[in-house]
Amino acid sequence: MANDGPILVTGAAGQRGAVGRNVTGLLLERGLPVRAMVRREDDRATALRAAGAEVVVGDLLEPADVFRVVSGCRRVYFGMSVSAGYLEASVTMAAVAREIGVEALVNMSQMTVSQMTIQNTTPSPQQRQHWLSEQALAWSGLPVVTIRPTVFLEGFFLPVTGPSVRARSRIELPFGRGKTSPVSTADVARVIAAVLADPGPHLDRIYELTGPRSQDLDGVAREYSDALKREVTYLDIPPEDWERGLKKAGFSEHLTHHLVTMAELNRAGRYDRMTDGVERLTGRPAMSVREFVSLHADEFGGHKGE
Ligand SMILES: NC(=O)c1ccc[n+]([C@@H]2O[C@H](COP(=O)([O-])OP(=O)(O)OC[C@H]3O[C@@H](n4cnc5c(N)ncnc54)[C@H](OP(=O)(O)O)[C@@H]3O)[C@@H](O)[C@H]2O)c1
Repeated sequence: MANDGPILVTGAAGQRGAVGRNVTGLLLERGLPVRAMVRREDDRATALRAAGAEVVVGDLLEPADVFRVVSGCRRVYFGMSVSAGYLEASVTMAAVAREIGVEALVNMSQMTVSQMTIQNTTPSPQQRQHWLSEQALAWSGLPVVTIRPTVFLEGFFLPVTGPSVRARSRIELPFGRGKTSPVSTADVARVIAAVLADPGPHLDRIYELTGPRSQDLDGVAREYSDALKREVTYLDIPPEDWERGLKKAGFSEHLTHHLVTMAELNRAGRYDRMTDGVERLTGRPAMSVREFVSLHADEFGGHKGE
């Protein structure tokens, strides 16, 4: 590895529980050199540097920046926040990675892509862009490993259900009776770090990642209750109310459209998926909802009596 240069991790600063930040930490723990790409110099960049990463600042929508950060790296994790420019960033990364000649590009995607065809995409602009990005990467001929996780515990359930569980001990979502199997980004990152550490056996593979159980939101609420030792219930709210709330909270049109589609797919049972990808790739079972809520109990309002 020493002669191969650092492993590039994009989106390395990350929002709460972000994949890139976790992957950076795990690779450093393995003693592997990491170039962590961030969008700006801030406390998160300082923390990455303190942890031992080489921090580079750049914009994934600027080809010259992407060329600069990929140069000298043989392995790349590509992921960034859900945003309108995702496809452009993916294709830019593909063009640069081809020019430089990387030996592995690990691409973050979404599990919904597994159910998509030309005749049957989804209305979510983000999901369509992931589908198109996967197509473009396949045409590129690059050595790609595709990661398709289902919904994140850190990136969705914690921020979206945290406030109502804290205030009213209620999960309020328009998910109907649909089942879901959320996965922790800590597990997703463990899979990605394992792939980046030794990409050879994984090239051209697609890894679908879920949590250990697919259940409806009453089942999810029971796991919250067990973890918090107080009763948490699920309220199936009207989709229109949820959409109004997202807009009021200032979510971008792109993200709102994506989340509204996610809810629609949940109601239609399209998130009822189960895989053993996490355990197969890392040797450890995926984290359950109960374990996750226990770990973050304070942010869900704490245990009964606290
Ligand atoms: N959330 C879910 O439930 C879920 C489920 C399955 C798959 N996914 C996929 O996971 C990915 C998101 O992963 P994540 O939650 O780990 O990411 P994240 O924390 O939302 O974002 C990672 C970083 O991307 C950076 N970024 C955004 N635009 C950029 C640009 N133009 N140039 C450089 N950096 C940029 C952001 O920088 P700043 O922080 O400085 O803005 C952010 O820190 C997406 O591909 C999403 O579709 C998400």
